[in-house]
Amino acid sequence: MESKDLPDQNVAWFDERPDDSQLSIDARNLLRNYSGIPTEEIEDHVVKLRNEAWEIFPYPCIGQFRFLDLSLKHTKEYQEILDRLAKGQRLLDMACCFGQEIRQLVADGAPSKNLYGCDLRKEYVELGYRLFRDHDRLQSRFLTADIFDDPSPLTELRGTFDVVYTGSFFHLFDYEDQIRVSKAVAQLLRPVKGSFIAGRQIGALNAAAHDHRTNPTGKMYRHNPESLKDMWKKIGDDLGVTFVVEATLHELSHDHFRFHTGDTRRIHFTIRRE
Ligand SMILES: C[S@@+](CC[C@H](N)C(=O)[O-])C[C@H]1O[C@@H](n2cnc3c(N)ncnc32)[C@H](O)[C@@H]1O
Repeated sequence: MESKDLPDQNVAWFDERPDDSQLSIDARNLLRNYSGIPTEEIEDHVVKLRNEAWEIFPYPCIGQFRFLDLSLKHTKEYQEILDRLAKGQRLLDMACCFGQEIRQLVADGAPSKNLYGCDLRKEYVELGYRLFRDHDRLQSRFLTADIFDDPSPLTELRGTFDVVYTGSFFHLFDYEDQIRVSKAVAQLLRPVKGSFIAGRQIGALNAAAHDHRTNPTGKMYRHNPESLKDMWKKIGDDLGVTFVVEATLHELSHDHFRFHTGDTRRIHFTIRRE
């Protein structure tokens, strides 16, 4: 399909082509070295698959090529995660979309059979196989499930993950639904000291709910570190578990301010079971 036929392109979060921050050196290296895509074909390949994904659901992360973001490898926990996976522990990428973080972990030596991905939309998982050209070799298991559903293919795996990664996921919801989603994700963790959730999402200097038309309830609650700790204290009290939260705010790249307020930041966090 030509880009002129795509739905809702005339929005601030749809870019025709990726810039160097969106199709980063990390993403190019992964697509060249892991997927074997020739350098000169990478950009057209990415745009073609992005356009197909946009038709499925026009999330800002699709319009802005954020499905190429490779955040996990830049966290201080990355080596710990690789070590855990090498020992046979298991990681779930919750709301994995195309599953780019799973491919980066495999490229960095993680056994792919210890990695799981879950997304609401099976089509994104299929597009991920095509983006990374690894259907015939990736042994990771991808589930299709809605985090709110119980039972679902995900609920069968409760209590089995040592690490759950959640990139740009909790921020899809307002405060009350973030509590519901966070509890469901917390219950996926192996019930032992040290299992943890890692992630990043849109946050803010001043924690508050904002209108956000692409979110299911039209609201996005943007946390700062204090509000995130406070929310996880409540969740822990309800679940009878102590969670230790570390969170930091980071500047966003300039393009985000086309549709966010000036106090918006990115929040990175880990939430560990005591
Ligand atoms: C903004 S994207 C983030 C993708 C990826 N984690 C990343 O960081 O690039 C949000 C993802 O959440 C998935 N999602 C939305 N609601 C969901 C739900 N209720 N249960 C499971 N996945 C959901 C969407 O299909 C989409 O792939």
